[in-house]
Amino acid sequence: MSGAQRRSVILGTGSELPAKVVTNGDLEKMVDTSDEWITVRTGIKERRVLEEGKGNADMAYHAAKRALDDAGIKAKDLDAIIMATCTADYLMPSSACVLEDMLEARKAFSFDVNAACSGFLNALSVADSFIRTGQIGNALVVGSDALSRLLNWQDRTTCILFGDGAGAVVLGASENGHGGILSTKLRTDGSYAKTLYVPAGGSLKPARLETVRNNEHTITMNGKEVFKVAVRSMEEISRQALEEAGVKIEQVSLVIPHQANRRIIVALADRLGISMDKVVVNVEKYGNTSAASVPVALDEARRQGRIHKGDIVLLNAFGAGFAWGAAVVQF
Ligand code: ACO
Repeated sequence: MSGAQRRSVILGTGSELPAKVVTNGDLEKMVDTSDEWITVRTGIKERRVLEEGKGNADMAYHAAKRALDDAGIKAKDLDAIIMATCTADYLMPSSACVLEDMLEARKAFSFDVNAACSGFLNALSVADSFIRTGQIGNALVVGSDALSRLLNWQDRTTCILFGDGAGAVVLGASENGHGGILSTKLRTDGSYAKTLYVPAGGSLKPARLETVRNNEHTITMNGKEVFKVAVRSMEEISRQALEEAGVKIEQVSLVIPHQANRRIIVALADRLGISMDKVVVNVEKYGNTSAASVPVALDEARRQGRIHKGDIVLLNAFGAGFAWGAAVVQF
């Protein structure tokens, strides 16, 4: 078969959300906020928080197991594990390596991709390229983040937005040229690096007593700027991904956008000219789970029977970097 006909197909999906629920009411007791303010501005009602003593890979493991079961593939047969995260268990090695060991996926090579909230699209695109070029036959692609670990729980402008979770897909190769991942598009604009970032803990400003005292290990954000650029960029890249796939917006059965804020999602749907009944929204339950948000929403949509054979689904995301991306997938 020629390389042009080889495509990646989604064989299975899975997700995992930590058991601990933090409601807007709980946050009212911690910061000067209200359920009404959070609901109106973001659509979020509650979020999940990973219990102390657990790391990112613990969530990723359960999501991965479910995706592997769904795909009917054994971990030992995986060729690659690509994990999108900006909250790895350790600064090194990668969480993908931790996950590989937990799954006993001894044959796989594994690495992390960090594109913050957009990371799953990047990981999907990388895995898709490996598969299309014939270097591998399958891959586990995970989006998993525990942003609760990067929150200043005294900062009402950020702590209300985020939650923890993990989502995974198993990709395989199809030689028949029908369906699968039809296109992926990625973009970044590093001039916005400090519009949404964690100032300390990296090589520029390593952890010191002073950085901890100054709360520099937590998310700092200009929310208004993020909002504006997110809507515009996700619309643009979605249109580019659709064009590359040769798909018209009317042919899209479902849009699965990054779950950051209901208002961003509604504005995006409006600009794309797609009705909200074709858009997956679960932000009210989980908040913004960063790299996990798209694969969690995809898994839920599949399990709710919202995706049928032949359906074309548009995925898109936006986050710190700024980094953003979109993918068009036919099931
Ligand atoms: N509770 C009550 N009041 C609050 C809260 C809160 N949690 N947070 C801020 N306020 C106050 C502000 O202090 C301000 O008060 P002031 O008028 O007295 O100064 C007022 O509410 C309005 O604040 P704004 O920042 O103007 O509110 P805005 O309508 O922009 O909503 C929000 C803020 C929700 C953060 C919005 O800008 C947003 O969602 N931005 C996108 C951010 C995002 O999603 N980041 C995630 C990462 S990137 C991504 O995933 C897309």
